[in-house]
Amino acid sequence: MPDDMSNKNVTSRPPEQRAGLIGGHLRKFWRDRTGFLAAQAKLGDVTFLRMGPQPVFFLNHPDLIRDLFVVNADKFVKGRALQRAKVLLGEGLLTSEGANHLRQRRMIQPAFHRARIAEYARSMVEIADKMAGEWHDGETRDIDKEMMHLTLQIVAKTLFNSDVGDEADEIGAAMTTMVELFNFLLLPFSEWLEKLPFPQSIRFKRARKTLDKVMYGIIDERRRSGQDTGDLLSMLLMAQDETDGTAMTDEQVRDEALTLFLAGHETTANALTWTWYLLSQNPNAEAKLHAELDAVLDSRSPTMDDIPNLKFTEAVLAESMRLYPPAWAIGRNVAVEHEFGGYTAKPGTLILTSPFVLHRDARFWDDPLEFKPERWETHSVKEASQRNIYFPFGGGVRRCIGESFAWTEGILLIATIARKWKLSLVPGQKIGLNPQITLRPKFGMRMLIKNR
Ligand code: HEM
Repeated sequence: MPDDMSNKNVTSRPPEQRAGLIGGHLRKFWRDRTGFLAAQAKLGDVTFLRMGPQPVFFLNHPDLIRDLFVVNADKFVKGRALQRAKVLLGEGLLTSEGANHLRQRRMIQPAFHRARIAEYARSMVEIADKMAGEWHDGETRDIDKEMMHLTLQIVAKTLFNSDVGDEADEIGAAMTTMVELFNFLLLPFSEWLEKLPFPQSIRFKRARKTLDKVMYGIIDERRRSGQDTGDLLSMLLMAQDETDGTAMTDEQVRDEALTLFLAGHETTANALTWTWYLLSQNPNAEAKLHAELDAVLDSRSPTMDDIPNLKFTEAVLAESMRLYPPAWAIGRNVAVEHEFGGYTAKPGTLILTSPFVLHRDARFWDDPLEFKPERWETHSVKEASQRNIYFPFGGGVRRCIGESFAWTEGILLIATIARKWKLSLVPGQKIGLNPQITLRPKFGMRMLIKNR
């Protein structure tokens, strides 16, 4: 190819939608984020948008996803939202970078080994059974709130075990306040704004103080008792760096525990809420799920050993996360200039990818908008992940460390609840998307609970 041809695209900008004069595409994007990105994808696999002063490349092809997360991962760092999240999470797994991240990841990995997850699985079913036992035939509940409460209890129990019941609630409340105020921290210039006495920054700092007091109290108590109580916190305290034998400082344990607490519940809760919605709209799939649960479990609660036999239940969850991936968009910042599909992304450019958009792309999926768990009988999750057409858990070195925890939890919770109850949407319940950090239902999810 002649030089001028090969250079032509490298200096030009990828295609973009019509932008406003001030703020670029920001207004359109905020009004309908998933719709905006879907429209963007129609323009090409590499497209451009501008959010205020921030240039953004949107990537929508499996090869480009692989390039970003696997092949050239070391050229990119986390986006601004996660960098700002350091005020809450410090240098935990989600927010740290480079060698620091790799060391922490190596040390924490054993906490997610199979034997450990089998321990957590017992708590998952116990807590879900208790919740399902408190529901009544014919009542209406907001399933969104129920799932959030359920997964919050599970993460608190698996992280801190039962010895910190009240403190776990206190941590949950302080965390919720901080997450609610997090949008304030994402405002332009918030690095300066947070130093001023705005009510938001005062409340944020107060919640962080509570959180730190409780967390360091728990860590201190545990260190003194020296016990392995079978939870994630024990694993963090026992973890040693294999290269130099050092353990984590109290501050590192605090950052990692809060990271797991935060990363470990809202995503799973959203996956479950959308699953109940999809099942209520697809009676054939629902009947097939019930038949599997009746055949495998009869009238007992599920255990981790049942999971290999709950193939359709797993397919329902996989299909739900295809259509409604909880992490609907995943971003990176360019640290070292890189070329995507002939276009150069300069340092400082934000790179966006969206499982929500790629999972609905007709080039890679038959009947992409239909809920068809059966598709996972012929294509495995592993194969779809390797092809990078399915990435609800991200990819490469930053791939979700809690993935097997999440599959175990999701399958066991669906089985525990659907074994007893059939959920249907209450008349008039509106369905809409609220894509925040995770993909929430915009109008909640009120459902009628009926005995099966
Ligand atoms: C359905 C449930 C879940 C989904 C969809 C999900 C999704 C994700 C995604 C997409 C990432 C990568 C983010 C990025 O590359 O910027 C991630 C990272 C992470 N997730 Fe999950 N997650 C789920 C459940 C969990 C659970 C249950 C835990 C912990 C108990 C967890 C802990 C983490 C942590 C610590 C990271 C950061 C990993 C690293 O950078 O090394 N996640 N998750």
